[in-house]
Amino acid sequence: MSTPDGYRRTSVDQTRSKEMLHVDAFAFAFTVPEKDQGFMDKVVPWRRARALEVADASRGTVGTLAAVHASFEFHMRVPGGAEVPTAGLTWVGVHPGHRRRGLLRDMINDHFERSIARGEHLSALIAAETEIYQRFGYGLATHDVQMELGRGVGLRDFPEAEQLHVELETASMERHGAIVSDIQSQMTRAGSFTRITDNTLHDLFIDLESDRDGAEEQRIAIIRDGERPVAWALFQRKQEWGSAGADGKTRVRMWGSLTAAATQRLMTVMCDFDLMTSTAVGGFAGDDPLILRLKDVRGAKLAIKDKIWLRVLNVPGALQARTYSSDTTATLAIADTQIPDNDGTWRITITDGRATVERTDAAPDISLNAQELGAVYLGGTTLAQLHAAALVTEHRPGAMRELSRAFAGDTMPAGNLFF
Ligand SMILES: CC(C)(COP(=O)(O)OP(=O)(O)OC[C@H]1O[C@@H](n2cnc3c(N)ncnc32)[C@H](O)[C@@H]1OP(=O)(O)O)[C@@H](O)C(=O)NCCC(=O)NCCS
Repeated sequence: MSTPDGYRRTSVDQTRSKEMLHVDAFAFAFTVPEKDQGFMDKVVPWRRARALEVADASRGTVGTLAAVHASFEFHMRVPGGAEVPTAGLTWVGVHPGHRRRGLLRDMINDHFERSIARGEHLSALIAAETEIYQRFGYGLATHDVQMELGRGVGLRDFPEAEQLHVELETASMERHGAIVSDIQSQMTRAGSFTRITDNTLHDLFIDLESDRDGAEEQRIAIIRDGERPVAWALFQRKQEWGSAGADGKTRVRMWGSLTAAATQRLMTVMCDFDLMTSTAVGGFAGDDPLILRLKDVRGAKLAIKDKIWLRVLNVPGALQARTYSSDTTATLAIADTQIPDNDGTWRITITDGRATVERTDAAPDISLNAQELGAVYLGGTTLAQLHAAALVTEHRPGAMRELSRAFAGDTMPAGNLFF
């Protein structure tokens, strides 16, 4: 599909930082005070920032930006442990004066073409509104369990957790960015972003005074096992006084952890600040050890949200990068209206947990579309679940169950970063 009439694609560099911010601020309905606007310079991955600008005076002032997007350079952990090059789509905004003319659709095509050319097999995003990206083949690959924990959360005894050291400081990209990056690189759960660049780190550490809404500046907790950092959390507390006295709230913005003991130590600290009566924290997989160790799971007020929407950009590249829980051979008809190189029937031959994937003219054993492939890729949602929801079709009896078992992981995937 071609770029809509009156617009042209262009790359955006740092000199247009404020123009890009203007489009996103208008699209997302926020305002950044002039003095803080420089934050974009470090956050946006400029080599990967793109836009549609006005090319025809009937659309506005020629040369102004109408729509923008960028993508972070990630590697994502996939089942079996490999780290797959992944484009983290971000800062997507269409100025309201130009919406519903196909600009997003064209930016997505641009994003796919450029990501594929860079050798990225996956594209991941966190959706502002969940309906938007499904039409472009993004499937819901990880869920996010959020909790509201009371002061002194009750967890089963864990002596190893007690041995770990805690550091609490004001968060600083310069001082703590490398620690966060180092922990992320060791995370084993499928869906984790294991390699992140400085732009992403700057993005995680953003702490604009105008966004604090009365809360303190951003703090960081680092858990160490001896010298070794094993968990981190970015958090803010907000003081409040109720009729019964102190009623402050702690909000954990993001966190990462390498072990169950480190998570327990981290969350114990997050839930035991003086004057704070509750802690809001998300980023858990449904089977996170902390949830399994809660004494009062009902009292934790669990809520499940969508988190990572995943798009397979290169079918053989992505399917051969991960491992599988059982061996089988099957043919999959994949319907992909945006990426012709993916569209069609593929034979997947899994031996000793590793797949060979090649095109075939054979009849398909199962059919699914790109969105469903994205949903099952990390091994959380299963083909059997999607089949039960009539989103996957089985043509050869038994094939769906065999493939469903092969694709399923031992643990649920999760992506712990917001971007
Ligand atoms: C959401 C947004 C990017 C859409 O941009 P746009 O240029 O108007 O979208 P397009 O005209 O290319 O629409 C493409 C398709 O998506 C659909 N669509 C667009 N926005 C949608 C929304 N918010 N909810 C559901 N569907 C949506 C359109 O109906 C169209 O469907 P079709 O092709 O099947 O007819 C834009 O409205 C925006 O910037 N919104 C605020 C910021 C935001 O939500 N950004 C996304 C960040 S994750």
